[in-house]
Amino acid sequence: MPLKSLVREISELSDYQVYGRVSGVLGMLVELSGLDRLLVIGSRCILIARDERKVPCEVIGFRHGHALLLPFGSLDGIGLGCKAVLAASEPSIHPSEAWLGRVINALGEPIDGKGPLPMGADPYKVRQSPPPAHGRNRVGGKIDLGVRAINTFLSCCQGQRMGIFAGSGVGKSVLLSMLARYTSLNVNVIGLIGERGREVQEWLEDDLGPEGLARSVVVVATSDEPPLMRRQAAYMTMALSEYFRDNGRDVLCLMDSVTRFAMSMREIGLSAGEPPASKGYTPSVFAELPQLLERAGPGVKTEGSITGLFTVLVEGDDHNEPIADAVRGILDGHIILERAIAERNRFPAINLLRSVSRTMPGCNTEPENELVTRGRQLLSTYENMAELIRIGAYNEGSDPVIDEAIAHYGALEAFLTQGKYEQSNLALGYEQLAAALGISWDQDVPEVTGFRDQEQNFDTANVGNE
Ligand SMILES: Nc1ncnc2c1ncn2[C@@H]1O[C@H](COP(=O)(O)OP(=O)(O)OP(=O)(O)O)[C@@H](O)[C@H]1O
Ligand SMILES: [Mg+2]
Repeated sequence: MPLKSLVREISELSDYQVYGRVSGVLGMLVELSGLDRLLVIGSRCILIARDERKVPCEVIGFRHGHALLLPFGSLDGIGLGCKAVLAASEPSIHPSEAWLGRVINALGEPIDGKGPLPMGADPYKVRQSPPPAHGRNRVGGKIDLGVRAINTFLSCCQGQRMGIFAGSGVGKSVLLSMLARYTSLNVNVIGLIGERGREVQEWLEDDLGPEGLARSVVVVATSDEPPLMRRQAAYMTMALSEYFRDNGRDVLCLMDSVTRFAMSMREIGLSAGEPPASKGYTPSVFAELPQLLERAGPGVKTEGSITGLFTVLVEGDDHNEPIADAVRGILDGHIILERAIAERNRFPAINLLRSVSRTMPGCNTEPENELVTRGRQLLSTYENMAELIRIGAYNEGSDPVIDEAIAHYGALEAFLTQGKYEQSNLALGYEQLAAALGISWDQDVPEVTGFRDQEQNFDTANVGNE
Protein backbone atom coordinates (compact mmCIF):
# COMPACT_ATOMS: atom_id res chain seq x y z
CA MET A 1 0.00 0.00 0.00
CA PRO A 2 2.70 2.58 0.83
CA LEU A 3 4.57 1.39 -2.27
CA LYS A 4 1.52 2.16 -4.40
CA SER A 5 1.30 5.70 -3.11
CA LEU A 6 5.05 6.12 -3.51
CA VAL A 7 4.82 5.10 -7.15
CA ARG A 8 1.99 7.54 -7.63
CA GLU A 9 3.96 10.34 -6.02
CA ILE A 10 6.94 9.64 -8.21
CA SER A 11 4.77 9.65 -11.31
CA GLU A 12 3.42 13.03 -10.25
CA LEU A 13 6.92 14.55 -10.17
CA SER A 14 7.71 16.68 -13.18
CA ASP A 15 10.80 15.75 -15.17
CA TYR A 16 12.15 19.28 -15.26
CA GLN A 17 12.31 22.13 -12.79
CA VAL A 18 11.33 25.70 -13.43
CA TYR A 19 12.21 28.54 -11.15
CA GLY A 20 11.82 32.26 -10.68
CA ARG A 21 13.53 34.84 -8.50
CA VAL A 22 12.48 37.05 -5.62
CA SER A 23 12.12 40.61 -6.87
CA GLY A 24 10.79 42.25 -3.70
CA VAL A 25 9.81 41.61 -0.08
CA LEU A 26 7.44 43.79 1.90
CA GLY A 27 6.59 42.61 5.41
CA MET A 28 5.50 39.01 4.91
CA LEU A 29 4.69 39.57 1.25
CA VAL A 30 7.13 38.23 -1.35
CA GLU A 31 7.13 39.44 -4.94
CA LEU A 32 8.28 36.98 -7.54
CA SER A 33 9.24 37.31 -11.16
CA GLY A 34 10.08 34.73 -13.76
CA LEU A 35 7.31 32.20 -13.32
CA ASP A 36 4.52 34.48 -14.44
CA ARG A 37 2.80 32.25 -16.96
CA LEU A 38 2.96 29.13 -14.78
CA LEU A 39 1.49 30.45 -11.58
CA VAL A 40 -2.15 30.67 -10.61
CA ILE A 41 -3.80 31.67 -7.33
CA GLY A 42 -3.04 28.92 -4.84
CA SER A 43 0.14 27.66 -6.59
CA ARG A 44 2.92 26.53 -4.29
CA CYS A 45 6.55 27.64 -4.57
CA ILE A 46 9.57 26.81 -2.47
CA LEU A 47 11.89 29.76 -1.79
CA ILE A 48 15.52 28.85 -1.25
CA ALA A 49 17.01 31.14 1.41
CA ARG A 50 20.64 32.27 1.39
CA ASP A 51 21.46 29.53 3.91
CA GLU A 52 19.73 26.91 1.69
CA ARG A 53 16.74 26.76 4.03
CA LYS A 54 13.52 25.99 2.15
CA VAL A 55 10.49 28.20 2.74
CA PRO A 56 7.19 26.98 1.24
CA CYS A 57 4.98 29.79 -0.07
CA GLU A 58 1.63 30.18 -1.75
CA VAL A 59 0.54 32.58 -4.47
CA ILE A 60 -2.16 34.89 -3.14
CA GLY A 61 -2.34 37.44 -5.93
CA PHE A 62 -0.68 39.27 -8.80
CA ARG A 63 0.29 42.93 -9.11
CA HIS A 64 2.12 44.90 -11.80
CA GLY A 65 3.11 41.73 -13.62
CA HIS A 66 4.54 40.03 -10.54
CA ALA A 67 3.21 37.19 -8.43
CA LEU A 68 2.58 37.91 -4.75
CA LEU A 69 3.32 35.13 -2.27
CA LEU A 70 2.92 34.57 1.44
CA PRO A 71 5.18 32.12 3.31
CA PHE A 72 4.26 29.14 5.49
CA GLY A 73 7.31 29.85 7.65
CA SER A 74 9.71 32.63 8.58
CA LEU A 75 11.28 34.73 5.81
CA ASP A 76 14.70 34.91 7.52
CA GLY A 77 17.46 34.65 4.95
CA ILE A 78 15.26 35.57 1.99
CA GLY A 79 16.54 38.43 -0.14
CA LEU A 80 16.42 39.84 -3.65
CA GLY A 81 17.35 37.29 -6.28
CA CYS A 82 16.66 34.22 -4.13
CA LYS A 83 15.52 31.25 -6.17
CA ALA A 84 11.87 30.12 -6.13
CA VAL A 85 11.05 26.64 -7.35
CA LEU A 86 7.58 25.70 -8.51
CA ALA A 87 6.34 22.95 -6.18
CA ALA A 88 4.03 20.01 -6.90
CA SER A 89 0.54 21.11 -7.82
CA GLU A 90 -2.14 20.73 -5.18
CA PRO A 91 -1.13 19.81 -1.66
CA SER A 92 -2.65 16.52 -0.59
CA ILE A 93 -2.35 14.22 2.40
CA HIS A 94 -2.51 10.45 2.77
CA PRO A 95 -4.37 9.99 6.05
CA SER A 96 -5.01 6.63 7.68
CA GLU A 97 -6.81 5.29 10.75
CA ALA A 98 -3.46 5.27 12.51
CA TRP A 99 -3.56 9.06 12.65
CA LEU A 100 -6.04 8.79 15.51
CA GLY A 101 -4.32 9.77 18.73
CA ARG A 102 -1.88 12.05 16.94
CA VAL A 103 -1.24 15.79 16.94
CA ILE A 104 -0.22 17.35 13.63
CA ASN A 105 0.51 20.79 12.22
CA ALA A 106 -1.25 22.54 9.35
CA LEU A 107 0.97 20.82 6.78
CA GLY A 108 0.10 17.36 8.09
CA GLU A 109 3.43 16.82 9.87
CA PRO A 110 3.44 15.18 13.31
CA ILE A 111 4.31 17.54 16.17
CA ASP A 112 3.79 15.20 19.11
CA GLY A 113 7.19 13.52 19.03
CA LYS A 114 5.61 10.09 18.47
CA GLY A 115 7.45 9.44 15.22
CA PRO A 116 6.36 9.62 11.59
CA LEU A 117 2.74 9.27 10.51
CA PRO A 118 1.88 6.09 8.60
CA MET A 119 0.66 6.89 5.10
CA GLY A 120 -2.78 5.79 3.93
CA ALA A 121 -3.60 4.57 0.43
CA ASP A 122 -5.63 7.43 -0.97
CA PRO A 123 -4.61 11.05 -1.40
CA TYR A 124 -6.94 13.68 0.02
CA LYS A 125 -6.89 17.24 -1.23
CA VAL A 126 -6.49 19.65 1.66
CA ARG A 127 -8.48 22.31 -0.14
CA GLN A 128 -11.78 21.03 -1.43
CA SER A 129 -15.11 22.36 -2.51
CA PRO A 130 -18.09 21.28 -0.42
CA PRO A 131 -20.05 18.35 -1.86
CA PRO A 132 -22.93 19.29 -4.19
CA ALA A 133 -26.00 20.17 -2.16
CA HIS A 134 -28.44 18.05 -4.16
CA GLY A 135 -26.43 14.84 -3.78
CA ARG A 136 -26.14 15.02 -0.02
CA ASN A 137 -27.88 12.79 2.45
CA ARG A 138 -30.28 14.29 4.97
CA VAL A 139 -29.09 14.88 8.51
CA GLY A 140 -29.23 11.64 10.46
CA GLY A 141 -30.51 10.66 13.90
CA LYS A 142 -29.83 12.43 17.16
CA ILE A 143 -26.33 12.11 18.56
CA ASP A 144 -25.19 11.96 22.14
CA LEU A 145 -22.79 14.80 22.92
CA GLY A 146 -22.46 13.97 26.60
CA VAL A 147 -23.42 17.48 27.77
CA ARG A 148 -26.97 17.41 29.12
CA ALA A 149 -27.94 21.03 28.42
CA ILE A 150 -27.11 20.46 24.74
CA ASN A 151 -28.48 16.90 24.56
CA THR A 152 -31.88 17.97 25.80
CA PHE A 153 -32.50 21.63 24.91
CA LEU A 154 -30.30 21.84 21.81
CA SER A 155 -30.30 18.32 20.38
CA CYS A 156 -27.83 17.84 17.59
CA CYS A 157 -28.17 15.34 14.71
CA GLN A 158 -25.60 13.46 12.67
CA GLY A 159 -24.29 15.83 10.02
CA GLN A 160 -25.57 18.98 11.71
CA ARG A 161 -23.34 22.05 12.02
CA MET A 162 -23.57 24.22 15.09
CA GLY A 163 -21.73 27.33 16.20
CA ILE A 164 -20.64 28.01 19.77
CA PHE A 165 -20.59 31.79 20.20
CA ALA A 166 -18.91 33.45 23.17
CA GLY A 167 -16.66 36.24 24.31
CA SER A 168 -13.14 35.43 25.48
CA GLY A 169 -12.79 33.29 28.59
CA VAL A 170 -16.43 32.25 28.84
CA GLY A 171 -15.72 28.54 28.48
CA LYS A 172 -15.56 27.64 24.77
CA SER A 173 -12.46 25.48 25.00
CA VAL A 174 -13.59 23.62 28.11
CA LEU A 175 -16.97 22.91 26.48
CA LEU A 176 -15.25 21.58 23.35
CA SER A 177 -13.10 19.26 25.44
CA MET A 178 -16.21 17.92 27.17
CA LEU A 179 -17.85 17.28 23.80
CA ALA A 180 -14.72 15.51 22.53
CA ARG A 181 -14.46 13.31 25.60
CA TYR A 182 -18.10 12.45 26.18
CA THR A 183 -19.64 12.15 22.73
CA SER A 184 -20.82 8.74 21.62
CA LEU A 185 -19.26 9.27 18.18
CA ASN A 186 -15.89 7.60 18.12
CA VAL A 187 -13.86 9.81 15.81
CA ASN A 188 -13.03 13.42 16.61
CA VAL A 189 -11.11 15.72 14.33
CA ILE A 190 -10.14 18.80 16.29
CA GLY A 191 -8.67 21.98 14.81
CA LEU A 192 -7.02 24.37 17.24
CA ILE A 193 -6.53 27.51 15.23
CA GLY A 194 -4.81 30.62 16.47
CA GLU A 195 -4.70 29.45 20.10
CA ARG A 196 -2.02 30.65 22.48
CA GLY A 197 0.91 28.23 22.36
CA ARG A 198 0.96 27.70 26.12
CA GLU A 199 -2.72 26.78 26.18
CA VAL A 200 -2.50 24.09 23.52
CA GLN A 201 -0.43 21.70 25.61
CA GLU A 202 -2.55 22.34 28.70
CA TRP A 203 -5.72 21.73 26.72
CA LEU A 204 -4.39 18.50 25.23
CA GLU A 205 -3.14 17.12 28.53
CA ASP A 206 -5.64 18.38 31.09
CA ASP A 207 -8.86 18.99 29.18
CA LEU A 208 -8.82 16.45 26.35
CA GLY A 209 -6.78 13.89 28.27
CA PRO A 210 -5.33 10.61 26.97
CA GLU A 211 -8.74 8.94 26.47
CA GLY A 212 -10.10 11.85 24.44
CA LEU A 213 -6.90 12.06 22.43
CA ALA A 214 -6.96 8.33 21.63
CA ARG A 215 -10.00 8.80 19.39
CA SER A 216 -9.01 12.19 18.00
CA VAL A 217 -6.71 13.72 15.46
CA VAL A 218 -5.72 17.21 16.55
CA VAL A 219 -4.54 19.84 14.08
CA VAL A 220 -2.72 22.75 15.68
CA ALA A 221 -1.70 26.17 14.36
CA THR A 222 -0.88 28.59 17.15
CA SER A 223 -1.34 32.35 17.06
CA ASP A 224 2.34 33.02 16.35
CA GLU A 225 2.31 31.00 13.13
CA PRO A 226 1.96 32.78 9.77
CA PRO A 227 -1.60 33.39 8.56
CA LEU A 228 -1.26 30.78 5.80
CA MET A 229 -0.56 28.10 8.42
CA ARG A 230 -3.60 29.09 10.45
CA ARG A 231 -5.79 29.06 7.38
CA GLN A 232 -4.32 25.75 6.26
CA ALA A 233 -5.02 24.20 9.68
CA ALA A 234 -8.73 24.79 9.13
CA TYR A 235 -8.56 23.18 5.68
CA MET A 236 -6.56 20.28 7.12
CA THR A 237 -9.19 19.73 9.82
CA MET A 238 -11.90 19.49 7.18
CA ALA A 239 -9.83 17.23 4.89
CA LEU A 240 -9.23 14.76 7.74
CA SER A 241 -12.91 14.81 8.66
CA GLU A 242 -13.74 14.05 5.03
CA TYR A 243 -11.34 11.11 5.06
CA PHE A 244 -13.03 9.51 8.07
CA ARG A 245 -16.49 10.32 6.72
CA ASP A 246 -15.71 8.66 3.39
CA ASN A 247 -14.68 5.57 5.36
CA GLY A 248 -18.18 5.39 6.77
CA ARG A 249 -17.40 6.96 10.15
CA ASP A 250 -19.58 9.48 11.91
CA VAL A 251 -17.11 12.20 12.69
CA LEU A 252 -17.31 14.96 15.26
CA CYS A 253 -15.39 17.90 13.82
CA LEU A 254 -14.52 20.55 16.39
CA MET A 255 -12.88 23.82 15.45
CA ASP A 256 -11.61 26.42 17.90
CA SER A 257 -12.00 29.00 16.48
CA VAL A 258 -13.56 30.00 13.16
CA THR A 259 -12.89 33.63 14.10
CA ARG A 260 -9.14 33.04 14.08
CA PHE A 261 -9.52 31.39 10.68
CA ALA A 262 -11.38 34.49 9.47
CA MET A 263 -8.65 36.69 10.95
CA SER A 264 -5.98 34.78 9.05
CA MET A 265 -8.02 35.20 5.86
CA ARG A 266 -8.21 38.92 6.64
CA GLU A 267 -4.42 39.15 6.97
CA ILE A 268 -3.98 37.32 3.68
CA GLY A 269 -6.58 39.45 1.90
CA LEU A 270 -5.14 42.73 3.14
CA SER A 271 -1.61 41.64 2.14
CA ALA A 272 -2.85 40.95 -1.36
CA GLY A 273 -4.27 44.48 -1.48
CA GLU A 274 -7.94 43.61 -1.11
CA PRO A 275 -10.07 46.48 0.21
CA PRO A 276 -11.38 46.02 3.76
CA ALA A 277 -15.16 45.76 3.91
CA SER A 278 -16.56 45.20 7.39
CA LYS A 279 -14.40 45.69 10.51
CA GLY A 280 -11.32 45.32 8.32
CA TYR A 281 -12.48 41.93 7.03
CA THR A 282 -12.04 41.69 3.27
CA PRO A 283 -14.76 40.39 0.93
CA SER A 284 -12.87 37.13 0.35
CA VAL A 285 -13.31 36.24 4.04
CA PHE A 286 -17.07 36.17 3.66
CA ALA A 287 -16.79 34.20 0.43
CA GLU A 288 -14.51 31.63 2.04
CA LEU A 289 -16.48 31.00 5.25
CA PRO A 290 -19.32 29.02 3.60
CA GLN A 291 -16.74 27.18 1.48
CA LEU A 292 -15.11 25.95 4.66
CA LEU A 293 -18.13 25.31 6.86
CA GLU A 294 -20.20 23.62 4.16
CA ARG A 295 -17.58 20.89 3.95
CA ALA A 296 -18.99 19.56 7.20
CA GLY A 297 -22.37 17.87 7.04
CA PRO A 298 -23.86 14.61 5.82
CA GLY A 299 -21.96 12.61 3.22
CA VAL A 300 -22.90 12.05 -0.40
CA LYS A 301 -24.42 8.58 -0.74
CA THR A 302 -22.00 7.20 1.84
CA GLU A 303 -22.69 6.03 5.35
CA GLY A 304 -20.55 8.55 7.19
CA SER A 305 -21.24 12.13 8.24
CA ILE A 306 -19.41 15.11 9.68
CA THR A 307 -21.11 16.76 12.62
CA GLY A 308 -19.44 20.12 13.05
CA LEU A 309 -19.17 22.29 16.14
CA PHE A 310 -17.36 25.53 15.49
CA THR A 311 -16.52 28.13 18.07
CA VAL A 312 -16.87 31.79 17.24
CA LEU A 313 -15.17 34.38 19.39
CA VAL A 314 -17.45 37.37 19.69
CA GLU A 315 -15.23 40.35 20.30
CA GLY A 316 -16.38 42.62 23.10
CA ASP A 317 -19.38 40.28 23.62
CA ASP A 318 -20.95 41.83 20.51
CA HIS A 319 -22.98 39.02 18.98
CA ASN A 320 -23.68 41.10 15.88
CA GLU A 321 -20.08 41.52 14.81
CA PRO A 322 -19.55 40.57 11.14
CA ILE A 323 -18.00 37.11 11.53
CA ALA A 324 -20.54 35.96 14.13
CA ASP A 325 -23.30 37.24 11.87
CA ALA A 326 -21.95 35.50 8.78
CA VAL A 327 -21.32 32.20 10.56
CA ARG A 328 -24.74 32.18 12.23
CA GLY A 329 -26.33 32.40 8.79
CA ILE A 330 -24.37 29.44 7.45
CA LEU A 331 -24.84 26.97 10.30
CA ASP A 332 -27.82 24.91 11.45
CA GLY A 333 -27.94 26.28 14.95
CA HIS A 334 -26.12 28.32 17.52
CA ILE A 335 -25.15 27.81 21.13
CA ILE A 336 -24.59 31.10 22.89
CA LEU A 337 -22.38 31.24 25.95
CA GLU A 338 -22.88 34.28 28.12
CA ARG A 339 -20.47 36.03 30.43
CA ALA A 340 -23.15 36.91 32.99
CA ILE A 341 -23.98 33.20 33.38
CA ALA A 342 -20.31 32.22 33.68
CA GLU A 343 -19.91 34.95 36.30
CA ARG A 344 -22.51 33.34 38.50
CA ASN A 345 -20.51 30.13 38.10
CA ARG A 346 -22.98 28.17 36.03
CA PHE A 347 -20.90 26.21 33.53
CA PRO A 348 -21.35 25.50 30.66
CA ALA A 349 -22.62 29.08 30.50
CA ILE A 350 -25.21 28.43 27.79
CA ASN A 351 -28.00 30.94 27.40
CA LEU A 352 -30.68 28.45 26.36
CA LEU A 353 -33.28 31.01 25.48
CA ARG A 354 -31.04 32.63 22.88
CA SER A 355 -29.63 29.36 21.53
CA VAL A 356 -31.30 27.35 18.79
CA SER A 357 -30.85 23.96 17.17
CA ARG A 358 -32.59 24.00 13.82
CA THR A 359 -33.11 20.24 13.63
CA MET A 360 -35.32 20.42 16.69
CA PRO A 361 -38.11 19.55 17.22
CA GLY A 362 -38.06 17.22 14.20
CA CYS A 363 -35.56 14.86 15.76
CA ASN A 364 -37.46 14.45 19.05
CA THR A 365 -40.32 12.27 20.21
CA GLU A 366 -43.53 13.94 21.35
CA PRO A 367 -42.84 13.55 25.08
CA GLU A 368 -39.28 14.85 24.64
CA ASN A 369 -40.56 17.96 22.90
CA GLU A 370 -43.15 18.53 25.62
CA LEU A 371 -40.48 18.25 28.28
CA VAL A 372 -38.16 20.69 26.55
CA THR A 373 -40.94 23.18 25.84
CA ARG A 374 -41.99 23.09 29.47
CA GLY A 375 -38.39 23.69 30.58
CA ARG A 376 -38.00 26.64 28.22
CA GLN A 377 -41.30 28.16 29.34
CA LEU A 378 -40.33 28.01 33.00
CA LEU A 379 -36.89 29.47 32.30
CA SER A 380 -38.23 32.30 30.20
CA THR A 381 -40.95 33.15 32.74
CA TYR A 382 -38.33 33.30 35.48
CA GLU A 383 -35.88 35.33 33.42
CA ASN A 384 -38.56 37.87 32.50
CA MET A 385 -39.24 38.42 36.18
CA ALA A 386 -35.69 37.89 37.44
CA GLU A 387 -34.99 41.51 38.26
CA LEU A 388 -38.18 41.93 40.28
CA ILE A 389 -37.66 38.64 42.07
CA ARG A 390 -34.09 39.55 43.02
CA ILE A 391 -34.98 42.91 44.49
CA GLY A 392 -37.90 41.36 46.33
CA ALA A 393 -40.55 43.32 44.45
CA TYR A 394 -42.47 40.19 43.51
CA ASN A 395 -44.92 38.92 46.11
CA GLU A 396 -45.26 35.19 46.18
CA GLY A 397 -48.77 34.08 45.33
CA SER A 398 -49.54 36.99 42.95
CA ASP A 399 -49.26 34.79 39.85
CA PRO A 400 -49.28 30.98 39.94
CA VAL A 401 -47.28 30.73 36.69
CA ILE A 402 -44.44 32.81 38.15
CA ASP A 403 -44.62 30.92 41.44
CA GLU A 404 -44.14 27.71 39.51
CA ALA A 405 -41.17 29.13 37.61
CA ILE A 406 -39.58 30.23 40.89
CA ALA A 407 -40.22 26.84 42.45
CA HIS A 408 -38.42 24.99 39.63
CA TYR A 409 -35.68 27.50 38.97
CA GLY A 410 -33.12 26.10 41.41
CA ALA A 411 -33.51 22.56 40.09
CA LEU A 412 -33.26 23.77 36.48
CA GLU A 413 -30.07 25.73 37.21
CA ALA A 414 -28.61 22.64 38.87
CA PHE A 415 -29.61 20.56 35.85
CA LEU A 416 -27.89 22.99 33.47
CA THR A 417 -24.69 23.05 35.51
CA GLN A 418 -22.25 20.35 34.51
CA GLY A 419 -18.73 20.01 35.84
CA LYS A 420 -15.83 19.60 33.49
CA TYR A 421 -15.31 15.97 34.53
CA GLU A 422 -18.96 14.98 34.74
CA GLN A 423 -20.32 12.88 31.90
CA SER A 424 -23.96 12.71 30.88
CA ASN A 425 -25.88 10.93 28.13
CA LEU A 426 -29.14 11.29 26.22
CA ALA A 427 -31.33 9.03 28.36
CA LEU A 428 -29.96 10.33 31.64
CA GLY A 429 -30.36 13.93 30.46
CA TYR A 430 -34.09 13.57 29.80
CA GLU A 431 -34.56 11.68 33.02
CA GLN A 432 -32.85 14.39 35.05
CA LEU A 433 -34.70 17.16 33.22
CA ALA A 434 -38.02 15.47 33.99
CA ALA A 435 -37.01 15.17 37.63
CA ALA A 436 -36.06 18.86 37.72
CA LEU A 437 -39.47 19.76 36.33
CA GLY A 438 -41.33 17.36 38.60
CA ILE A 439 -42.68 15.32 35.68
CA SER A 440 -42.72 11.54 35.84
CA TRP A 441 -40.60 10.00 33.10
CA ASP A 442 -40.38 6.39 32.15
CA GLN A 443 -39.52 6.82 28.50
CA ASP A 444 -37.12 4.44 26.98
CA VAL A 445 -34.97 6.77 24.93
CA PRO A 446 -33.46 4.88 22.03
CA GLU A 447 -29.75 5.51 21.41
CA VAL A 448 -30.40 7.10 18.05
CA THR A 449 -33.82 8.31 17.01
CA GLY A 450 -34.55 8.85 13.35
CA PHE A 451 -35.01 12.33 12.01
CA ARG A 452 -38.64 13.11 11.42
CA ASP A 453 -39.61 15.67 8.90
CA GLN A 454 -43.15 16.57 9.84
CA GLU A 455 -44.00 19.87 11.36
CA GLN A 456 -44.71 19.75 15.05
CA ASN A 457 -46.05 22.25 17.47
CA PHE A 458 -43.06 23.59 19.22
CA ASP A 459 -43.26 26.72 21.20
CA THR A 460 -40.42 28.97 20.13
CA ALA A 461 -42.42 32.09 20.77
CA ASN A 462 -40.79 32.59 24.10
CA VAL A 463 -37.26 32.59 22.74
CA GLY A 464 -36.11 35.86 24.15
CA ASN A 465 -33.43 37.17 26.39
CA GLU A 466 -32.46 35.04 29.32
N1 LIG B 1 -17.61 23.20 32.92
C1 LIG B 1 -16.84 24.03 33.64
N2 LIG B 1 -16.71 23.84 34.96
C2 LIG B 1 -15.96 24.66 35.70
N3 LIG B 1 -15.29 25.71 35.22
C3 LIG B 1 -15.35 25.97 33.92
C4 LIG B 1 -16.14 25.14 33.04
N4 LIG B 1 -16.04 25.64 31.80
C5 LIG B 1 -15.22 26.71 31.88
N5 LIG B 1 -14.80 26.92 33.14
C6 LIG B 1 -13.93 28.04 33.60
O1 LIG B 1 -13.84 29.06 32.61
C7 LIG B 1 -12.48 29.35 32.30
C8 LIG B 1 -12.34 29.74 30.85
O2 LIG B 1 -12.69 28.69 30.04
P1 LIG B 1 -12.10 28.50 28.57
O3 LIG B 1 -10.62 28.53 28.57
O4 LIG B 1 -12.77 27.30 28.02
O5 LIG B 1 -12.65 29.80 27.87
P2 LIG B 1 -12.52 30.23 26.35
O6 LIG B 1 -13.84 30.79 25.97
O7 LIG B 1 -12.00 29.10 25.53
O8 LIG B 1 -11.43 31.37 26.43
P3 LIG B 1 -10.55 32.02 25.27
O9 LIG B 1 -11.45 32.92 24.53
O10 LIG B 1 -9.52 32.74 26.01
O11 LIG B 1 -10.03 30.89 24.44
C9 LIG B 1 -11.73 28.09 32.68
O12 LIG B 1 -10.43 28.35 33.03
C10 LIG B 1 -12.53 27.55 33.84
O13 LIG B 1 -12.09 28.12 35.03
MG1 LIG C 1 -10.29 28.95 24.29
